[in-house]
Amino acid sequence: MAKPRILSGVRTTGDPHLGNYLGAIRNWVPMQDTHECFFMLADLHAIATPQAPAALTSQTRETAAAYIACGIDPAKSVIFPQSAVSMHSELAWILSCHTPLGWLSRMTQFKDKAGKNKEGALLGLYSYPVLMAADILGYHATHVPVGEDQKQHLELARDIAGAFNRAYGEDFFPLPEPLILGEATRVMSLRDGKKKMSKSDPSDYSRITLTDDADTIAKKIRKATSDSIEGVSYDSEQRPEVANLITIYAALADTSIDAVAAQYASAQTSRFKSDLADLAVEKLSPITAQMRALMDDSAYLDGILRQGAEKARAVATPIHQEVMKRVGFLQV
Ligand code: TRP
Repeated sequence: MAKPRILSGVRTTGDPHLGNYLGAIRNWVPMQDTHECFFMLADLHAIATPQAPAALTSQTRETAAAYIACGIDPAKSVIFPQSAVSMHSELAWILSCHTPLGWLSRMTQFKDKAGKNKEGALLGLYSYPVLMAADILGYHATHVPVGEDQKQHLELARDIAGAFNRAYGEDFFPLPEPLILGEATRVMSLRDGKKKMSKSDPSDYSRITLTDDADTIAKKIRKATSDSIEGVSYDSEQRPEVANLITIYAALADTSIDAVAAQYASAQTSRFKSDLADLAVEKLSPITAQMRALMDDSAYLDGILRQGAEKARAVATPIHQEVMKRVGFLQV
């Protein structure tokens, strides 16, 4: 039997960070043996928040390097820039003609990102989840590994698939299922334990990026916000920052939150942080080193992405053509 097909991606909006690694990329690695995998570099989604052109180019390479350094094997998985496969944009338009505004206006990510300035918010930010539906449906992907925060977008993709199927033939698009990733998926800011670790946070000290050197990692963990409560205990309400550090420790050490909390129950926060810094450096420095090597060989990296784009197009094109036919576009 054919392996189930998955598709996922990370936006190329900045340096990939610890949250991208622990919350997404790392969890894709074992799926490469059980699924047919498409991992895109979501550069079309990236420009929903304005990006400087040269930065977008290097962030796209850097994200590709991070995928590979974290264990995504180009021989097993298809790695490609989203913009290199024109189906994504074209199908997004067709799907947008089957998506009521009411569905989109419920999306909490848009509300969070647009903030108070609804008039100035970009159309692309609003239609972002329609493009995400096109990414998934355009490959007939059946499973989508996502974090909690993307579940609502995936629900919407299912609704859009249903609307399309009702109009043009039941069962054309499989309804994609979320694969919600295991423990430790939500890595929070090192400055504010209630906010997700994010590339757009103005403070560099809020995140650990996969290109940080050992000293920087240690410094960021040492300076991470904590509290004055004695000992180390997991309480995401009362002690969100300490809880986040425990979560990160458990994920990096491949152990449970309870085990880490028990081990450090009577330790001073400073000792816990210093052990966490050592652990983070130990686990992240091989990734950083490989990313650097890949970034220094952009011809090799671009070659992988070119091949990935070809493989992606080979799957997307026949599905796209069938969509065009079903919609009734004159075939010339
Ligand atoms: N929106 C996702 C995020 O911000 C990234 C993404 C774009 C994605 N297209 C996707 C994830 C398709 C899964 C499937 O994390």
